[in-house]
Amino acid sequence: MIFETHAHYDDKKFDEDREELLSSMPSNGIGTIVNVTAEYSSLEATFELIEKYDFIYGTVGVHPSETEELNEEKTERIKELAKRDKIVAIGEIGLDYYYPEPSHDVQKKWFIKQLEIAKELDMPVIIHSRDAAADTLEILKSDAAKGLRGVIHCYSYSKEMAMEFEKLGYYFGIGGVITFQNAKKLVETVEYLPIEKIVLETDSPYLSPVPNRGKRNSSLNIPLIARRIAEIKNVPYDTVVEITEKNARNLYFGQTEKR
Ligand code: NI
Repeated sequence: MIFETHAHYDDKKFDEDREELLSSMPSNGIGTIVNVTAEYSSLEATFELIEKYDFIYGTVGVHPSETEELNEEKTERIKELAKRDKIVAIGEIGLDYYYPEPSHDVQKKWFIKQLEIAKELDMPVIIHSRDAAADTLEILKSDAAKGLRGVIHCYSYSKEMAMEFEKLGYYFGIGGVITFQNAKKLVETVEYLPIEKIVLETDSPYLSPVPNRGKRNSSLNIPLIARRIAEIKNVPYDTVVEITEKNARNLYFGQTEKR
C-alpha cells in the first residue's frame, strides 16, 4: 500500500472534514501516513492525530521559517516529545532563504540544534531546503549531522546537487511538483535517481498534482504522483508503490546504517 511520507493534517484547511477524509485513506490504498510538524504550536495537534489513527505516525520539529519562536527550553521539550510512541523523525527542519526572515544565522542555529537532537536520539531527519542548497549541504556534511539518515523533502534542486545529497545517504521526497508542466529539472533528477532512493509525499494541503493543481491537496492524490514517476522511470505503477513503501519503512522505521 502507498506510504505517504509527508503531510500536514493538523492544518486548519482540514478542519471541516478531517475525520471523514482520514477515515477514507485505508480503503483508498493509503496504508501509512506521516504527519509532519512544522510549528512548535502544532505539536499537540500531531499527537492527537497519532493517538486517534493507528496508520498515522508523527514527527516533532520546527520549520526554518518558524525558528524565530524557538529557544533552549522549547528545544528541550521537543527532545522529550521525540521519545514518545509513534514519533518517527525529527522534522521538518532545515533552511529556507526564500523569505528574508528569520535571518540565515537564526535558521542555521536551530537547524543544527535539531540535527543534534536527532543524532542524540538516533532518529531520522526530514529536511526542508529552499533556495539554500549550498548551506544545507555544508551543514549536512558537518559533524552535527554526521551519520544521520533522512529525507530531503520536496526536493527542488538540480540533478548534480542530488548526487551530493545521495552520497550522504539521503532519500528524496517526490511530490506533486513532478506532475507540473515546468518540472523539467525535477524530471531530470527522477530520471537519474535509483528508485530505491525515492519516497512519495504530498506536503498536503499544499502542492496538489496536476490535474488538481491549485486545489487543497490530500494523500488521495498520491497515485497521480506515483503514476508520473512510473512513466519517467519506465516501470509499472505497482512497482513504484511497492519500492517506495519499502524505502519509507526503511527511512522511518529502520536502523541507521553505520558509515
Ligand atoms: Ni511540509
